[in-house]
Amino acid sequence: MTGTKVIAVVGATGSQGGGLVRAIQSDPDGGFRARALTRDVDSDKAKALAALGAEVVAADVDDAESLKRAFDGAYGAYCVTFYWEHFSPEKEKHQIRAMAEAAKAAGLQHVVWSTLEDTRDWMALEDDRMPTLMEKYKVPHFDAKGESNAVFAELGVPTTYLHTSFYWDNLIFFGMGPQRGEDGKLAFNIPMGDRRLPGIAAEDIGRCAYGIFKAGGDLIGKSIGIVGEHLSGAEMATALSSALGEEVVYNAVPFDIYRGLGFPGADDLGNMFQFKHDFQEDYVGRRDLGLSRGLNPDLQTFATWVAANKDRIPSGG
Ligand SMILES: NC(=O)c1ccc[n+]([C@@H]2O[C@H](COP(=O)([O-])OP(=O)(O)OC[C@H]3O[C@@H](n4cnc5c(N)ncnc54)[C@H](OP(=O)(O)O)[C@@H]3O)[C@@H](O)[C@H]2O)c1
Repeated sequence: MTGTKVIAVVGATGSQGGGLVRAIQSDPDGGFRARALTRDVDSDKAKALAALGAEVVAADVDDAESLKRAFDGAYGAYCVTFYWEHFSPEKEKHQIRAMAEAAKAAGLQHVVWSTLEDTRDWMALEDDRMPTLMEKYKVPHFDAKGESNAVFAELGVPTTYLHTSFYWDNLIFFGMGPQRGEDGKLAFNIPMGDRRLPGIAAEDIGRCAYGIFKAGGDLIGKSIGIVGEHLSGAEMATALSSALGEEVVYNAVPFDIYRGLGFPGADDLGNMFQFKHDFQEDYVGRRDLGLSRGLNPDLQTFATWVAANKDRIPSGG
């Protein structure tokens, strides 16, 4: 269509990118069209995006030339990385630079970069409140993203720095749903003490990103944070109790216990929760509910999200 702006979407078959492709394609008069990047154009997820009218193209963030081809001729791009596929901040930084360089080469007019805080700006490596991981990080999957914000700025790419929040979908896909304890009760186990955990439905991240592209130049060069609701663990447990029809108690797991749980990335996540806990005011303050609703008027609350997903949330057997 003449005049439509193409948004190249990295991670289009995943949570963040998928939400953005669906948001763009469900608004045919919005002036945008999605170009979905995937390593496998024949996958069921890729075909589902094509069925929505998205252009589906092959690209791999580890292949710089494929990224440049996929960004070529686009107006903008949504850039996201996949830390939990490789657990390597060095690899993540390399992939971010490749995306920024491809955006520069294609002369993109607006990039939305899905980033997170560099926690070392709040806590020096020698600070022993939490362990240093991989020799130079506190929260590796945050720090690598935050450190790389500078790459977009250094290359002069017109970028909005989008700080996302904890996906409530982690309760379904990341093993963070309520678990049945030895006492037979369901417990929601997260290390947040009595502090609030900014959270969001993963699908709403892409919808907010669409709002950012629609706002155009207004948000270029800005850092913004999005959230669906700022709730404490106890408040989340209450919402879970009413949706699941069974009492769910909140269990504030100590940070050290969480770090030692032994699953891959437990230490990284334990530090992440402690960062959100210890620097609550800054972390919550940077994620603006009013702004998020302005970008995405359909923003879900936790109660809405739980009600829609209660059959998918594991509840401890
Ligand atoms: N979970 C949370 O609470 C949370 C909160 C904030 C931020 N994050 C961040 O979100 C990021 C992950 O985003 P997501 O949840 O949207 O991912 P996701 O749902 O896991 O999707 C990953 C998608 O990325 C694509 N992909 C993987 N490796 C690729 C590569 N080398 N080249 C091109 N595409 C590749 C895959 O598509 P194909 O197989 O089709 O290529 C896959 O569908 C992580 O970096 C994480 O730190 C997570």
